Amino acid sequence: MKVMGVCGSPRKRGNSEQLLDVALDVVRAEGIETDKILLAGKQILPCTACLRCREEKDGLCHGRDDDLTRALPAIYDADGLLLATPVYFGAATAEMTAFVDRVGYVSRANGGLLNRKVGAPIVVARRAGQNFTVAQLNYFFLINGMIVPGARYWPIAFGGGPGEALQDDEGVATIQDLGRNVAWLIKKIYS
Ligand SMILES: Cc1cc2nc3c(=O)[nH]c(=O)nc-3n(C[C@H](O)[C@H](O)[C@H](O)COP(=O)(O)O)c2cc1C
Repeated sequence: MKVMGVCGSPRKRGNSEQLLDVALDVVRAEGIETDKILLAGKQILPCTACLRCREEKDGLCHGRDDDLTRALPAIYDADGLLLATPVYFGAATAEMTAFVDRVGYVSRANGGLLNRKVGAPIVVARRAGQNFTVAQLNYFFLINGMIVPGARYWPIAFGGGPGEALQDDEGVATIQDLGRNVAWLIKKIYS
């Protein structure tokens, strides 16, 4: 059993990555293996709509040859996906949007590679836009047949400068709770 954490911030060691680590630490403490992909510093291009994934049906992206193309096998190998993003102008970052477009489209072109896997969002903003962005990521999970656990609150936190989100006690407690629920659900489904 494995959970893949994906951080959509262009900033390494920022709030999104720190909150993702909070959740992944809990998942590991519950006995589930974790892995992490930072989209920061990687080439993550948008979908070209070439539709070749529908023709080739090999679980790969043939429209792009970038870091996401190479990461796809590890992403589909995981039993759960934790997607962390900051809010940029009320929505997920461009990197995270490109990620969900391509990972979702290739999954659907190949009979549903994400179907019945567990998915959960983690969203941070300085002031506003978390709920919309949680909904944006939940739409991705749900149209791909994924199962989304809740937590004691929506999985959001407040923070602007790097590290500020870890001072949001309720946000951190919520993300820890989310990690526990992700682990609980994966064990129920896969063990
Ligand atoms: C281009 C850009 C757009 C942003 N838009 C918003 C926004 O709509 N709402 C908000 O509260 N914060 C916004 N922020 C602030 C970030 O969400 C906040 O600093 C967040 O903690 C960054 O996460 P990171 O450290 O993981 O990169 C924006 C920041 C940038 C750089």
